[in-house]
Amino acid sequence: MEKPLILALDFSSIEKTLEVLDKLDPVSCRVKVGKQLFVSQGQRAVKKIQELGFEIFLDLKFHDIPNTVKEACLAAADLGVWMVNIHASGGRAMLEAASDAYAKLNEAPLLIGVTVLTSLSEEHFDELGYSGNLTSAVERLAVLSCSSGLDGVVCSPKELKLLSRVISEDFLYVTPGIRFDGEDAHDQSRIATPQSALAEGADYLVMGRSILESEDPSTRVFSINSLAKNNK
Ligand code: C5P
Repeated sequence: MEKPLILALDFSSIEKTLEVLDKLDPVSCRVKVGKQLFVSQGQRAVKKIQELGFEIFLDLKFHDIPNTVKEACLAAADLGVWMVNIHASGGRAMLEAASDAYAKLNEAPLLIGVTVLTSLSEEHFDELGYSGNLTSAVERLAVLSCSSGLDGVVCSPKELKLLSRVISEDFLYVTPGIRFDGEDAHDQSRIATPQSALAEGADYLVMGRSILESEDPSTRVFSINSLAKNNK
């Protein structure tokens, strides 16, 4: 996969966002607008980033009743974003409402299901009281996303091998929880290096702090693209 990097623009200010983007080229990466930037700056941020030529993954992780999620996904499509995500745990009716709505559009964003957040460990997951362990929940939610017509899932790089065994369809794997060797994991629990995520079949790597807090973000972007090329 060329250009696998999705840079998480986890900022509240548009100035800081534009300062970072000024050093990057839309040819070398895509970007993610999540709750922090969208709630702080709204559609204005989306438009400004698009004007610079970057494709946007709108990471608002919708989770609500089917009609509300469908309408929110359609509103996201109107913004012209490249990728949108919804929580797979919202259930089949919610997932199908969104994917059926996108199937009727001429040009729709990619629709991605969130399985289990990469910040959750097995221990955190047990506390939630779902049946089975975390890995089996990821598997169930990914299979459900696929059979509900979604284009792919967000999962941990640790789950890629398992999912590629149980899902034979063309399906996209978007993996946060990426850290270079020896880096601080921060609040992430199920992490892996970019090398191993790409080798195990990740299509897109969502990376924030490891790039944004580095001395030279554009060199890091370049190194991810080189890894992806060598992995082909
Ligand atoms: O800084 P870091 O690389 O940990 O950022 C990861 C980004 O990916 C954050 O913006 C976070 O919201 C997002 N994300 C995640 N886990 C998911 C979905 C999205 O960490 N399951």
